[in-house]
Amino acid sequence: MWTPPERIRHPIAATRWPSADEAARSRWFSPVALGPVRLATRTWVPAMVPWRATPDGEVSDDVIAWYRRFAEGRPGAIVVEATGIRDIPSGPLLRIGDDRFISGLRRLSEAVREASQGETRLLIQLIDFLALKRRPAPEAFLRRFLALGPEHRARLAAATGDDAWIEADEAAIREALVAGDDALLEAVLAPRELRDLRFGYREEVGDLDRPQIRALPEVLPGLFADAAARAEAAGFDGVELHYAHAYTMASFLSRTNHRSDGYGGSLEGRLRLPLEVLAAVRGRVSPALAIGCRMLGDEVIEGGSTPEDAIAQARALAAAGIDFISISKGGKFDDARQPAIGAAVYPYTGRSGYECMPTVISDARGPFGRNVGLAAGIRAAIRADGRSTPIVTAGGINSFEQAEAILAAGEADVVAAARQSLADPDWFLKIRRGEGASIRRCKFTNYCEALDTKHKQVTCQLWDRQDLDAPDVRLSDDGRRRLTAPSWRPGGED
Ligand SMILES: Cc1cc2nc3c(=O)[nH]c(=O)nc-3n(C[C@H](O)[C@H](O)[C@H](O)COP(=O)(O)O)c2cc1C
Ligand code: SF4
Repeated sequence: MWTPPERIRHPIAATRWPSADEAARSRWFSPVALGPVRLATRTWVPAMVPWRATPDGEVSDDVIAWYRRFAEGRPGAIVVEATGIRDIPSGPLLRIGDDRFISGLRRLSEAVREASQGETRLLIQLIDFLALKRRPAPEAFLRRFLALGPEHRARLAAATGDDAWIEADEAAIREALVAGDDALLEAVLAPRELRDLRFGYREEVGDLDRPQIRALPEVLPGLFADAAARAEAAGFDGVELHYAHAYTMASFLSRTNHRSDGYGGSLEGRLRLPLEVLAAVRGRVSPALAIGCRMLGDEVIEGGSTPEDAIAQARALAAAGIDFISISKGGKFDDARQPAIGAAVYPYTGRSGYECMPTVISDARGPFGRNVGLAAGIRAAIRADGRSTPIVTAGGINSFEQAEAILAAGEADVVAAARQSLADPDWFLKIRRGEGASIRRCKFTNYCEALDTKHKQVTCQLWDRQDLDAPDVRLSDDGRRRLTAPSWRPGGED
């Protein structure tokens, strides 16, 4: 992962944990409404892909065990990982693109209800993503995938000063490119072709020459609405439309979206599909289902949306009646690291990825509560419009004191913690019982995220080697790590 050049190491600061009484009177452990859905507390586990679904995208026993473990800590809400709304193969990522997925998802919602003693509300993040291919071997790309046209011939002739290339045999041109150096490839290939060569082919929302991309505004509202209806049938309390990071809907919202069909360009054009999706979902489900979204407070890429854009977008979504807005940051393909040949580009490897999941090796600002200001700006603008849409913040939150301060300052309505909850899924319950001193504190060094990047089952370094031979411990595919945190008995040691 990209790291700020300053490379300042920030300690995990000591903190004061509240007594059970103080926690009971706190803001963080007070209720909040997400539209029709009441959360018992303002604590939240945001979406985290654990790479545990079956190869067909079904809920597995390991998926159930993962969410059951978070539910035992009784957060106000858990958002189930990004779940694909299309019925297309996508490896061990959860899917909700057909009715056959409902029964597995129902088992999941029942498990969370039982493990949290009915307290935790369960949402599911609904995602659409576009085609992405692995980085090809250069010879394969230049010999087979590159669509050779007269423009390549002309540029090769100009670059070499040899007009014979204009009429040359296609195979000879391809071999010249295979033998050529970077400078020759940069002279002959178009920027998008160079990107396909160096990073792998990746569809974009602006590719209006491709029918499936042109048709996105026609198909996505229905796909999201069907998925939300399935979530409701499976017993979920709400859906979180994934309008963040590197995926389709965030790409529509992005300033980099130059679609010329009314779904790009201006702020209004970029917002059009996200609003149409919201309306379609609203029209399909019952009034009891909470419908929110996750969006970016800042894309953190060159030419991308700014915090001011995000404020305008969030105001429009709030005006359209969305039930909550969860604010994230970055996580884009645009600045991702070049993958190895045969691997796919991953959106959390560049600077924008760092901003999404900041680590303790940071700049002077450090990782803790790093993104709160974005949520605060959005919340203030929505409140100034006279709307009370709850705003969720996340990013480097690891203590009660920090969460209380955020709520007291009116910077957010719900305070979420992903990695701290992975490090210790019982931490919310420990705080409520006045046992905060026994919390296993996240190191924010992203061992978990490195596993995610490699598409390996996500675990935490603080517990994944503990008691591997205890009964009922399920191990990762490599047999070396346990898949869920050891259980904790209140009042005792974990
Ligand atoms: C392993 C892992 C998987 C993640 N998967 C998702 C995801 O599916 N959807 C999403 O919106 N964010 C995802 N995130 C980002 C988190 O929800 C969260 O925004 C980020 O980790 C920052 O919060 P934190 O500092 O509390 O961890 C993931 C994070 C991690 C560590
Ligand atoms: S692996 Fe590291 S960063 Fe991830 S949850 Fe555990 S301690 Fe935190």
